[in-house]
Amino acid sequence: MVLTANDVLPTNADGTMGFVQNSDLFYLSGIDQEETLLLLFPDAPDPKQREMLFVRETNEHIAIWEGQKLTQEEARERSGIQRVHWLQDFETHFRQLMCQCSQVYLNSNEHPRAVIQTESREMRLALRVRREYPLHDVRRLAPLMHELRRVKQPAELGALSEAIRITEDGFRRLLRFVKPGVYEFEVEAELAHEFIRQRARGFAYLPIIASGANGCVLHYNTNHCECRDGEMLLLDVAACYGNYNADLTRTIPVNGRYTQRQRQVYEAVLRVMRECNQMLRPGVILREYQEEVGKLMTSELIGLGLLDRDAVEKQDPEKPLFKKYFPHGTSHHLGIDVHDVGQTWLPVQEGMVFTIEPGIYIREEGLAVRLENNYLIGADRNTDLMASIPIEVEEIEELMNAAH
Ligand code: GLY
Ligand code: MN
Ligand code: MN
Repeated sequence: MVLTANDVLPTNADGTMGFVQNSDLFYLSGIDQEETLLLLFPDAPDPKQREMLFVRETNEHIAIWEGQKLTQEEARERSGIQRVHWLQDFETHFRQLMCQCSQVYLNSNEHPRAVIQTESREMRLALRVRREYPLHDVRRLAPLMHELRRVKQPAELGALSEAIRITEDGFRRLLRFVKPGVYEFEVEAELAHEFIRQRARGFAYLPIIASGANGCVLHYNTNHCECRDGEMLLLDVAACYGNYNADLTRTIPVNGRYTQRQRQVYEAVLRVMRECNQMLRPGVILREYQEEVGKLMTSELIGLGLLDRDAVEKQDPEKPLFKKYFPHGTSHHLGIDVHDVGQTWLPVQEGMVFTIEPGIYIREEGLAVRLENNYLIGADRNTDLMASIPIEVEEIEELMNAAH
């Protein structure tokens, strides 16, 4: 198996994006440095070649311009891989090993919703191997990685818990900050400061800080509006720590008190969320779970006067009416990727981590509520990893109105 780091992606002129490591390489090695290669060949004839890591050799020029890079010793310590080489030695080993194997596993992004318009480093590697070794059996690593990454290890849960703890601090801070007249980007700045001062890498994903009707735009992230008296503020914001991502959503009243209607919608979403936590259990198939959530949501929407019972009875099952108010999925795997990999058609298992994130978006009222927590699936019950983050109406109102 050969696994490569991601590219450092260009922007314009000589600009680049911040480096984001390949999730699978990070998962298998803990190495967060560009250009790294990992080679595994468990039955290589020479035991020294069974597990090898190749890292970029640093020099005076790199030290001056980019700063410190991993030494071989550091890479060994961090990865647990004994055989660490400089990148320039890769070709020799690779050539030797390709002459000793008949199959090679290579990686590719097989997330079903990925839109890839550039030729990634891993894709260039695959194309190269195909061209140079056309008689080898080239296999897909992605399904194996998805299977490994579905169930979380204790160390992963440790990093995720820290991301969640920092996220909670950010949320509690903004509860003291939000009031009529603040701008969405000011709330973003509060969060960025809290996250980064606590050693988070930053936001886990582009933060959605959406006041009033902006909350109905599912991927709103311009965050440029003023938060007004009487509106709610939908916050889908979380920290990334040690490359593990939290994923939190809360919807709070800008002036510290929900109106009766806001509260009614809020409580409906919260009931669905609690019910989902009972339903998302080992053995469940996500597609079937999503259908059940749709039924729960339908009855809440009838209760809110948004759907008509008769119309629901006559609805086309292929196009259920609830989708007008709840157009997205309820749960996804969470980990090194926010929408983490996993074979979503297979049953839920103990040790997986999922979000539960129901929402109701009423465009005609300019009103949106989404709530989202992260859960560890357990044998007897799920653990709500965000149980301590305020969610009850009373607690949120109390914290927003406390003297500070
Ligand atoms: N923040 C992305 C999501 O909730 O899926
Ligand atoms: Mn989210
Ligand atoms: Mn989510």
